[in-house]
Amino acid sequence: MKDKISKLLLEVEQIKINNEIQLEELRIKWLSKRGEISSLFDDFKNVPNELKKEVGQQLNVLKTKANDKINALKETFEQNKDAQKTNNIDLTLPGIPLNQIGAAHPLSIVKNQIIEIFSKIGFTVSEGREIEDDWHNFSALNTPQNHPARDMQDTFYINLNPEMVLRTQTSSVQVHIMENQKPPIRTISPGRVYRNEAISARAHCQFHQVEGLYIDEKVSFADLKQTLLYFAKEMFGEETKIRLRPSYFPFTEPSAEMDISCTICKGSGCNICKGSGWVEILGCGMVDPQVLTNCGINPDNFKGFAFGMGIERITMLKYQIKDLRLFFENDVRFLKQFTSA
Ligand code: DAH
Repeated sequence: MKDKISKLLLEVEQIKINNEIQLEELRIKWLSKRGEISSLFDDFKNVPNELKKEVGQQLNVLKTKANDKINALKETFEQNKDAQKTNNIDLTLPGIPLNQIGAAHPLSIVKNQIIEIFSKIGFTVSEGREIEDDWHNFSALNTPQNHPARDMQDTFYINLNPEMVLRTQTSSVQVHIMENQKPPIRTISPGRVYRNEAISARAHCQFHQVEGLYIDEKVSFADLKQTLLYFAKEMFGEETKIRLRPSYFPFTEPSAEMDISCTICKGSGCNICKGSGWVEILGCGMVDPQVLTNCGINPDNFKGFAFGMGIERITMLKYQIKDLRLFFENDVRFLKQFTSA
C-alpha cells in the first residue's frame, strides 16, 4: 500500500490538463466517494497495526496534495475566464451614441449675448466677488447703516463684525473698479447675487445681474439713453422701443427704470406685460457725485452713468419662461431646449 501511495503522490504532482472537462474528470478520479483516495481509506483497515501510523500520515499527505492541486487548477481556469471576458471587447466597433450632449445653460447663453452686445461698443468685462464687505455692497453706494434703502434688499449677513454679506447687487463691482482704475472706464460686470427672499415663480434667493458703468469727462444722460436703446434693439430686435421712468436708487441721481415694448404682444397688451404694452428690464441713472467721491474720483472732472439688470428677467422675456425656479432645478427636459453656444 505504501508503494501505491507513493506512486499516486508522484502522479498528483505531474497532473496536467487543458480544460474544465478534464478538471471535472480529475475531481471524480481523485476526490469523489469512489475515487482513488476514498478507496485507499477503505483499504486502510487492512493495514497491519504497526504500519497504521506511517501509512495514515502518507495517506493524509496524498489527500491534501490532491485537494490543493485540483483547487489551484480550478482557480486558474476561473481567472482565465474573467480575463477573456474583458479581452473580448471589440475596439473597432462604433461607440455608443451620446444622445444628451451638454449645452450652455440658458442664463449663460444670455449672459454671453449681453457681453457680446456691449463689447461691440467698447465695454470690457470685470468680475467682482460674491462675499463683500459692507463698504462695497452698501456704504460706498450711498447706503449707510440704517438708511431706509437697505430695506429694498433683504441681505444675507455672513458676519456682523466686521460686516460681511453675500452681495445683493453687482453694483458692488462698480466701487472696486472706480477705486482701482482711472477714467475713462467702460465696463460691464456680470455675476451672481443673493437675497434673503422666499423662493417662488418670481423670486429666488440667488440670481444673476449685469452691472454697467461708464465714467468719462463728458458723459450725459443722452449717452445712457442711447446705449440702452442700442442694447434693447440688439437683444430683443430692431423694432423694440424703450421708455425711461423716473425712479430712485441711492447711488444714481437722477435715477430711472427702463421698460421695453412687450416682446410678446409688440405693445398691444398681453398677460406678460399685464396689458400695458411695456415690461421693466433694468434700473439706471447718472452716478451720484458722492459715489464718485467715495471711490476716489473727482466729480468736478468726471461724470458717469450706471445701469443694472437681472439676467433671469432678460432670459425669461426672451424665451417666454414663466417660472424663475426652472433655472436652478437643472431638469434636463428644460435645459435641452436651449442649444445655442
Ligand atoms: N443695483 C440695483 C438693484 O439691484 C440695480 C441698479 C439700478 C444698478 C440702478 C445700477 C443703477 O447701476 O444705476 O436693484
